[in-house]
This record gives sequence, structure tokens and C-alpha cells, in this order.
Amino acid sequence: MKNTKLIKDYLFGGMVLIIIIFLINEITFFNNNIFLEFIFIFTLGGVFNVFINKYFSHKEVKTKNAEKDYKLLKNENEEINAVYQQLEAYSQTIDQLNLELNISLDKHQILIDSISDIHIYKNYDEDDYLIKVYEIAKKIISGYDYGVVFKYVDDYVYQLKTDGYNIQKLREIKLEKNIIENCYPKTGLYFTKDSTIRKFMSEDRINEYSKYSPASKEVIYLSIKYQDKHIGGLFLELDKNSKLKYNKNDIKIVNTFQLLVESYYENLENAIKEENRLVDIVKAMTNILEYHDKYTKYHSFNVANIAKQIGKEMKLSNKDIKELYLSGLLHDLGKTFIPKEILNKKEKLTDEEFEIIKKHPTDGFNVLNSIKNLDKIKASVKHHHERCDGTGYPDGLKGDEIQLETQILAVADAYDAMTTNRPYRKAFSKERAIEEIRNNSGKQFSPIVCETFLKMDNIENLSDNECEVENGTV
Ligand SMILES: [Fe+2]
Repeated sequence: MKNTKLIKDYLFGGMVLIIIIFLINEITFFNNNIFLEFIFIFTLGGVFNVFINKYFSHKEVKTKNAEKDYKLLKNENEEINAVYQQLEAYSQTIDQLNLELNISLDKHQILIDSISDIHIYKNYDEDDYLIKVYEIAKKIISGYDYGVVFKYVDDYVYQLKTDGYNIQKLREIKLEKNIIENCYPKTGLYFTKDSTIRKFMSEDRINEYSKYSPASKEVIYLSIKYQDKHIGGLFLELDKNSKLKYNKNDIKIVNTFQLLVESYYENLENAIKEENRLVDIVKAMTNILEYHDKYTKYHSFNVANIAKQIGKEMKLSNKDIKELYLSGLLHDLGKTFIPKEILNKKEKLTDEEFEIIKKHPTDGFNVLNSIKNLDKIKASVKHHHERCDGTGYPDGLKGDEIQLETQILAVADAYDAMTTNRPYRKAFSKERAIEEIRNNSGKQFSPIVCETFLKMDNIENLSDNECEVENGTV
């Protein structure tokens, strides 16, 4: 094929050259021998054509090779770009996974910390604890726009804390427990569009409820229960226009919270058992007082009840009120060391006898001192005769150096002592006792406790309570 093309090129070049020579027809050589001229020019034309063809075909090959190389490089470049983009995508995915992993680790750290802190939470009041769980859930779950934590009170929902709701209005509406239990039978993810609430509420009530509730598209629900007893629950919700979605991890986390809550209630149950045992011990100790001095026993019950009422009025926690009550029962325990002759003496006490009387707070403290976890009670027993102005005994503490529960106990102690017959004097009228407390505000008694005491509606009947120790219910 190559030779055929070469011959053709040769003939074509020779023909072109002959035509040119004939056209010019001015150059003569080989003595005008037309035949030799023809052969020479024909040969020369052929060689020239072959040379030209060779030259251009070489150029053409080079160009084609360059184009081929260019295409190859272009393809390789595109492949490299595609690989680079793929790597870029992988890198972004890894960054995203890393970010999610870090967020996930942070969340798990919060959860681990929460579980580790159970021993702290066990001292929380139940309401405070449920609010704490809600606050932790808000930090760990993927996101929330609204939320609510509630407990059941008398088979109705009582909202403890909300985000995005009108809590006061919701409390007034009083949603029934069975509505929640039917609409949200267990912990998990629920979609608002699937809500079955219309089966259990009238249209009017739903409209009323909706006025004070935000519109959400999905909710994570934690059913708070212990040993099959439904205690309450919490919701975290995403707004109906939110781009977020809850995922499987959120459901796993919220299930873990169930364990956290159960641990708290188990601790609470044990604490109540322990507390009841403590009350039994206190009852036994109070009975010792009866054998020694009947007055002191009934005085102790009265002081415990009055102190409890003041504590409630001052919005102390349930735990503090319980301890305050027990402090009232035990505050004069040290009097068992005082001879009956001195306790029941009708005449004025000598200085020596008064010094013996003044030992009873420290003696009572020493009796209790070996019992663990009674710090506030022991302090109240030791310091119930301290005075706000620092002139009391045994340590001459003053003002805030005396713990609040002891300041309350001092007012309750004085009020009951004044309104009761004593061996050395008749009982004061309640009006006079109240007046004495008013006059001694800031001197013997804490002004804040006096202010609360003097405002109490039931002040006239304070020492008429039944003299019974209530197991775990004070
Ligand atoms: Fe006392």
C-alpha cells in the first residue's frame, strides 16, 4: 500500500513539474533533446514530490502523535480530577463523620457524667431531679425546639418545666393521665401527624390545648416509671418546619434515660426505708424521755410540729422539713442526763444548777454523734439554745452562724415552752407568747424566722397538733 501511494505521488509530482516546464518553456537543457528533458524533469518532479510528501507526512505523524498524546493527557487529567474530587468527597465525609463522632462523644460524656453523678442526684427533691433529667436530655438529644417535663398528680398531668409552652395555662387545663398513656404508650419516637389524641379529647379541648402549645412535627418521649408505676414523662419536640429529624441514636439515648430514672427511684426507695428506720430510732429515743420527764416528751412533739409548720411556710425542701421535724423530737434528748430534782424544781435555779441545765444541748449532741448522716439534726440539737445576738449557749454563735433549721427550732421551742405550764410558772397566754417572740426578733430569734412565724394563719393552734411520729411522711 505504501509503495502504491509512493508511485502515485511520484507520477503526480513528475506530471505537475512537466506541465510547469512546458508552460514556462524557456529553460532548455540536454541540447533540446525533448526525450531526455522529459525523463529528467519527470524524475526530478517525482523525487521532489516524494520528498515533499515525506516531509509533510512526517509533520502529520508528529501532529497526530501530539494530538493523541494530548488526548491521553486530557483523559488522564480528567481521571485525576475525578479521583481528586472523589478524595475531596471522602475527606468531607470523614470530616463530617469526625464532627459527628466528636458530638456523639460529647453527648456520651454528658450521659456518663450524669450516670456517675447519681449519688449526687439521689439527694435531689423528686421535682428537681425530673427537671435535671429534662435538662440533660436537652443537651444529648439531636435537637429540640420545644419540650416539657411533667409528673402525674392525682391522675392529672402537672408540668414541672416547659420550653415553648404556656406552663400556667397548661396546668389550668389539667390533662388527664390516661390521655398521655394512650397516646404515648411507651418511650420512643412519635410523629404528630399520627397523633391519636383526637380519640381521647373533644375538639374544643384540643383547640384550647393548642392555643398554649407549639406546633411540632415529631417528638421524642420518655416515659418515666418505676416498677410499673407511671410517675410522669418528658417530651422533646421539633418544630413543624424544622429540617432536623430524630434518629435511632436519639431513641437509644432516651431509653438509657429510663435506666437513669429507675436508679434514682431505687435510691429514693432505699432512702425512704433508711429514713423510716431513723424515725424508728428517734421514736425509741423519744420514749426514753417519757420515762424521765413526761413534760419534755410532749414538749418535743409540739416543737417538732411547730418547726415543721414554719419550715413549710418558709418553703424548705421536703428533706429539710423532715430533718427539722426529727430535730424537734430530739432537741432536748440531753435532758435525760439532768437530775429530775433540777428539772422539776419549782424554785429559782442556783447558778450551779443552771450550769447543769446548760449542758443538755452538748450531751444530746454527744449521744447522737456516732450516728452518720445526721449532720443538720446534730447541729440543731447542739445549738438550739444559741441566740441570734450571740449571747446563747454552748458556743455563743450568732446570726447566720446558726443554721436556718436551728433558728426555726429556737422559735418553735420558745413558743411551746411559753405556752405550757412549767414547774416554776403557769403557761403564758398565746397572745403574750406571740408578743414575746415579736419583741425578741433580732435579739434571741432570727428576724426572718420571726417574720414568717408571726404571719402564719394557724399560729394560735400550733401546739395543739397530735403527738405522733409520722413514718416518712412529715
Ligand atoms: Fe432545750
